[in-house]
Amino acid sequence: MANKQFDVVVIGAGPGGYIAAIRAAQLGLSTACIESDAYADPKGEVRLGGTCLNVGCIPSKALLRSSELFDEANHSFVMHGISVEGIKVDVGTMVRRKDNIVTQLTSGIRGLFKKNKVTLLAGRGSFRGREDELWQLEVTGKEGTEVVEAKHVIVATGSSARHLDGIPVDNRIICDNAGALAFDSIPKRLGVIGAGVIGLELGSVWKRLGSEVTILEALPDFLAAADPAVAKEAWKAFTQKQGLKIHLGVKIGAVKQGKKGGVTQLSIDYENGEGVQNLECDRLIVSVGRVPNTAGLGADNVGLKLDERGRVDVNDHCQTNLENVWAVGDVIRGPMLAHKGMEEGVMVAELIAGQAGHVDYDAIPWVIYTHPEIAWVGKTETQLKNEGVAYRTGQIPFLANGRALGQGDTTGFVKMLADAATDRILGVHVIGANASELIAEAVVAMEFGASSEDIARICHAHPTLSETMHEAALAVDKRPLHF
Ligand code: FAD
Ligand code: NAI
Repeated sequence: MANKQFDVVVIGAGPGGYIAAIRAAQLGLSTACIESDAYADPKGEVRLGGTCLNVGCIPSKALLRSSELFDEANHSFVMHGISVEGIKVDVGTMVRRKDNIVTQLTSGIRGLFKKNKVTLLAGRGSFRGREDELWQLEVTGKEGTEVVEAKHVIVATGSSARHLDGIPVDNRIICDNAGALAFDSIPKRLGVIGAGVIGLELGSVWKRLGSEVTILEALPDFLAAADPAVAKEAWKAFTQKQGLKIHLGVKIGAVKQGKKGGVTQLSIDYENGEGVQNLECDRLIVSVGRVPNTAGLGADNVGLKLDERGRVDVNDHCQTNLENVWAVGDVIRGPMLAHKGMEEGVMVAELIAGQAGHVDYDAIPWVIYTHPEIAWVGKTETQLKNEGVAYRTGQIPFLANGRALGQGDTTGFVKMLADAATDRILGVHVIGANASELIAEAVVAMEFGASSEDIARICHAHPTLSETMHEAALAVDKRPLHF
């Protein structure tokens, strides 16, 4: 029997892959998407959506919301004159709610594949070779291996949690992101290695639910990628107001498991400037970054080039060194963010279809879903200083915003950085409630090459948190109206 042939075969159905497949199909290309059983449901059925839908963005935000409600009921209702007694958490219900959201969304992608006529090939995909300008891919699933052929291949195999030598992850006691999203009870003492995005988001979730959380971070600086003023404000909020214990500049030593009163306990040795320290905890999250999924892809069979960090090597248009082979998302350079992967998926599908796809890597927003939320787009002050760019700054605290006061949530600020000569917006940094939503205005502004004066002259609804963006723009020109 002849092999199945497609215009495009995508390997991996995470945000980069499923979006690339849907867009390619929309553009009239016959398209298939290969997905392994990495996130199969209890019946062994392949689940689409990758890390993001199964063990990343979506489940983490579902738990985040539950934990925030619990925290508000415990600490914030009282200032509104509302008292509630006997508040309890049922972790089982909370985790089931999260699982239901995941199921709803992952089956939603199946529906989208059907609607757009994307063929799903269940199994692990790998390169076999190329004949007559057609790439040959093996798909190894439950029923054995089949070979499919494609004019174009898009590698979207994503990333997996990086683990540390000597700290074996069992996703029960020592967990990466997968286990940390599925605890069956609230650990009394939770250790976290890595004060990056996952450590802070998930550390905050379990802290709000009642765990005593200690985060051990190798770097001497906190949130080094964020604007320094934001990092400073976040440090204050997390450590002083919320009681997260964060130790910086540590070197992790031996991690031992033992039992006390029949209960498993962990003992973590670490060194800091003051010598060897020890942390005892009941569970540990290891969140020290992610590694690209290229093992088993058959890269060597076809000479697919990887870079020095094991990622698929691509140019600005996500083309690899092989003709008609592309790669998108976490498996290539750039930030490991779902929306970045999705944009690349659209770009590649459009380029394959002969259109002018493009990703503006300078306007990709970052959001850290802690409380307060942290969001930014463009350059930080540190970057501008290092690049010798002259800039003006406008910064407005949420304390000066009526809506923030009404909501009882006034932590943080909006800070805008604009070119000193042209006034073009170079970066916007938000720490505060709804920062994840507020940043969209700044992204649009930057995409349109707006100046701070453009934002200052745009009418913002009152009373809204977005007025803080307006005031920050006015503040760039030293003329805020409400501060
Ligand atoms: P993935 O989502 O990793 O998908 C790759 C897919 O390829 C997987 O389904 C895998 O099974 C499949 N695959 C791999 N190899 C093969 C093969 N050989 N054959 C067949 N299939 C294969 N990003 C955000 O933007 N916002 C967030 O809020 C956010 N929160 C996160 C929270 C957590 C806890 C984590 C871990 C990540 C979070 N991320 C977030 C990052 C986001 O999940 C990733 O950037 C995104 O999922 C990357 O998409 P991708 O398609 O490149 O890869
Ligand atoms: P990360 O790169 O954000 O943070 C890892 C942290 O661990 C760093 O601060 C690093 O210095 C530290 N670290 C590394 N090795 C260490 C060691 N041996 N001991 C102590 N500390 C060590 O990675 P994280 O948190 O694992 O998340 C992975 C990626 O997933 C993120 O970079 C991001 O791209 C994505 N993500 C995005 C989210 C969002 O957009 N809101 C949420 C969660 C994850």
